[in-house]
Amino acid sequence: MRYGVFSDVHGNLEAFSMVLDFFRASRVDGYICCGDVVGYGPDPEECLSLIRELKNLHIVCGNHDLAVIGRIDMEWFNPYARAATLWTRAALGEESRRFLESLTARLDHKDFTIVHGSPQRPADEYLLSVAQFKNNMSRVKAWPLFCGHSHMPVCFRCSAEGKVQALFIEDHQAIIGEMAPYGIVPVAYNPGSVGQPRDHDNRAACALWDSEARTFQVYRFAYEVAATQAKIRAKGLPEYLALRLAYGQ
Ligand SMILES: [Fe+2]
Repeated sequence: MRYGVFSDVHGNLEAFSMVLDFFRASRVDGYICCGDVVGYGPDPEECLSLIRELKNLHIVCGNHDLAVIGRIDMEWFNPYARAATLWTRAALGEESRRFLESLTARLDHKDFTIVHGSPQRPADEYLLSVAQFKNNMSRVKAWPLFCGHSHMPVCFRCSAEGKVQALFIEDHQAIIGEMAPYGIVPVAYNPGSVGQPRDHDNRAACALWDSEARTFQVYRFAYEVAATQAKIRAKGLPEYLALRLAYGQ
């Protein structure tokens, strides 16, 4: 099976359209989404409509999705995220709200696991260090683990000898999950962010995962950032949310 893997769309229709076109051209068999479909961006309703049409979709909710439907409070959100959450809440239709309410924070498939942040704290922990990955390993039943939240394309990989590495994944770079005598070794993949990359590369990020070949390959796509920025301004969302898209941060 070949899966289109993506995360943190954040209501960015221009970026998401590029990624979906790529997945369709790649003839993927299914989709894995690590959450945060909404929040920050100007087209939450349109992005959720596209998501709901995807066949064989495996998806969890992110902290912004949960904030929009009132399941977590916004105490730890910065003022821009809080303003965008309130705007998104008002912009969403009934069907989209119900769809977000139907999502779980963790998805345990027989062949993989999906969370937004980390297995032990799906809504808020950023999986960024080897120590954090090790600390979460016992919480995963089926590898690989797919996660988002940090908006960085990264991989945490445990070798057959038990040594853990953290790797930033470049455009077109393929990571091969290893096999060990007792089975598949622990590996976590983050495809980066579709709609608000934060690795100083403003291109939309996504990945393809081949479950038989056990390869995870990241792809980056330039999209019309100026069009998304114009919508953010026209809809009265904070100016900072438009500016950061240009810099990929
Ligand atoms: Fe996010």
